[in-house]
Amino acid sequence: MWTSDIIMMNGKLMPYADAQIHPLSLAVTYATTVFEGLRAYYMPETKEFALFRLDDHIKRLQAGMKVMRFDQTYETEYFRKCLSDLIKANKPDSDVYIRLLVYIEGQGLLATTGPVGFTAAAMPRSKPKFAETGMSLGVSSWRRLSDNASPPRIKATANYHNARLAVHQAKADGYDGALMLTPDGYVSEAPIACFFMVRDGVLTTPSCSSNILESITRDTIITRYKELTGLEVVQRSIDRSELYFAEEAFLCGTGQEIIPVTSIDHFEVGDGSVGPLTQRISRDYFDLVRGNIDDHAQWRTLI
Ligand SMILES: Cc1ncc(COP(=O)(O)O)c(C=O)c1O
Repeated sequence: MWTSDIIMMNGKLMPYADAQIHPLSLAVTYATTVFEGLRAYYMPETKEFALFRLDDHIKRLQAGMKVMRFDQTYETEYFRKCLSDLIKANKPDSDVYIRLLVYIEGQGLLATTGPVGFTAAAMPRSKPKFAETGMSLGVSSWRRLSDNASPPRIKATANYHNARLAVHQAKADGYDGALMLTPDGYVSEAPIACFFMVRDGVLTTPSCSSNILESITRDTIITRYKELTGLEVVQRSIDRSELYFAEEAFLCGTGQEIIPVTSIDHFEVGDGSVGPLTQRISRDYFDLVRGNIDDHAQWRTLI
């Protein structure tokens, strides 16, 4: 298995162990960082990598920099080239996970807006633990942070303090993972993934006003479901008690991919096994990201 030997800081490739940031930078002191997690899927037949929805990840990152009032941004083309160089430099021979972080590397006061810096790292990543078996979720007593407090629709590092509290509570309570509610009690998302469920045959997901990250995988599933079935995914507020009537449920995200949910608050989802629609969506997702099908070729940047 290849290892992550080379990292990129501010456009320069360097040995992984040499990357440094000052502890008094705003990034460390006030968590002034936005980031992306991307995946590049290895295609053994052509020995190329398909970096999935690269421009959409960069667009969300740029939106985060704007909301956080960073005094510098980066052009899409520049990041495209940086990530391509980074992948090639590490000589991977299997799927690649990329962390791209942009932050204020300067020191100063809370309102400081620069200098801005970035780090990109490429690492191997195997299939998530619960991908085949599914996972149990517990509804967290930690509420998802709200748009007027710390907007979840941008992928700010600071938002993951809230997510982490929920993860630890779920583990302490014996669940595989957490599901968070909005401050007014509707279903929001999991700490690092979005949530879908099937109720009365209808594929349903919390709307973008349910304090969720505007997930690229969620958008992929909504688009593909329409193309495959002619039906819309219903995006709406979901009550907590509705979770207990779900026939199927799953989480999705770039890192998590598609993870079936087999129980919530100790209530079985459906019959407690991985449902047929979840399996179908999952198969289609992997065919798409790996380029086994030609659809949406523009979503795959070949490297
Ligand atoms: C809080 C949160 N929600 C949802 C997602 C899924 O987002 P995406 O599909 O863009 O990776 C992530 C993944 O990073 C996340 O951290």
